Amino acid sequence: MALKHRRRLPGALILLAALLSAAACSPTATTGTAVVAAEVTPASTPVRPPVISTGLPPTAPPPTAPAASATPAPTVAVSSPTPIPTATITPSPTPDRNILCSRRIPDNGLLNIVTLTYGLSRDYEPAGLVDLSGYLPGDVTLGYPTQLRRIVINPLVDMIAAMQAEGLKPMIISGYRSYSAQAIARQKWLEKEPERANILSAPPGFSEHQLGTVVDFGSPELPDIVGQEDIEFHTYFYKTSEGRWLLENAHKYGFTLSYPFEAFDITGFFYEPWHYRYVGVEMATLLHEKGISLTEYQLASEPPPCIPDPK
Ligand code: DAL
Ligand code: ZN
Repeated sequence: MALKHRRRLPGALILLAALLSAAACSPTATTGTAVVAAEVTPASTPVRPPVISTGLPPTAPPPTAPAASATPAPTVAVSSPTPIPTATITPSPTPDRNILCSRRIPDNGLLNIVTLTYGLSRDYEPAGLVDLSGYLPGDVTLGYPTQLRRIVINPLVDMIAAMQAEGLKPMIISGYRSYSAQAIARQKWLEKEPERANILSAPPGFSEHQLGTVVDFGSPELPDIVGQEDIEFHTYFYKTSEGRWLLENAHKYGFTLSYPFEAFDITGFFYEPWHYRYVGVEMATLLHEKGISLTEYQLASEPPPCIPDPK
C-alpha cells in the first residue's frame, strides 16, 4: 500500500499520537484537544462556508480500500467535450533563482513546488481556470463556486465517476484559492487557533491551492464518524469510504496526497487526508510507489526555484 515505505514517525509525533489515541477511546474525545488539520473556504465565497472542527489525529492510515457497494450508483459526472491528454513528468523549467520566493510567477507546469519556503507571487493566477459546475453535478460540488485548472477536469471527472461506480459519494469542498482568498482563510485560522494556525493553514502565497490543481474532498460519512452533523473537514476523513478509496486509487488518476500524516516534519503541515494535488499519472504513481509526498521528492531532487525570503 501507499504508505509502506514511509519514513518512521518522529518521536514527538509518536508520543502525541499515542496520547491522543488513548484519548480517542473516550466517548467525549472527538473534539477539543488534539492536533488536526482543517481548511476554510474564503469569506468572499457567496455560499455557506464549510464547517470545520478540531479532532483527533489517527494513529495509522487506513489499511485497505473499502469494498465496493453491491449496488453501484449511476455515474452522473459530465465529462468535458474535448479530451485532455494525461500529463507526463517533465523536468521543471530552468528556474529564475534571482527572484524572491514571495515574488515567484511560475510557468503553467504541474510540478511547481510550493512549500512554506517556496511561494508564489500575489500576482500569480494559474491559466485556464474553469468552474466545476460545468462538469460535475451539484451533489459533488455542493453548489460551491469551486474553480480548478482545466487540465485537472477530465482526470477529476473520471475519478469521481470511478468512485461513484463503486457506490461512493465523493464531494468537492475546495479547489482554487487566490492569494487574497488564502489570506482570508489564514486569518480565520489565526483568530480561531492562533497556536496551531501555522500547521493548519498556509500563509497567502504559500498554499498549493493557489496553483488551481488542488482538490479538498469530503464524504457524507464524516458527520457520523465524527459525531457532528454539519462537519465537512476533519482528520477522520481518512476513515471514510471516500478517504480510503482516494488513498489507494487517486494516483491512478494523477492525484497525490500532499500532506500525509508521516510527512509533517517535511511539509510543515499536519495531516490533511482530504487534500489532493493533480500532478499527472506518472508522477502520482511514482510517489505512490515510493510512499513519499511530492514535497519530499522535490526537495530531494530539484534545485531551489527561487531565493528564500529573509525571515
Ligand atoms: N491547509 C493547507 C496547508 C493550505 O492552507 O494550503
Ligand atoms: Zn486543501
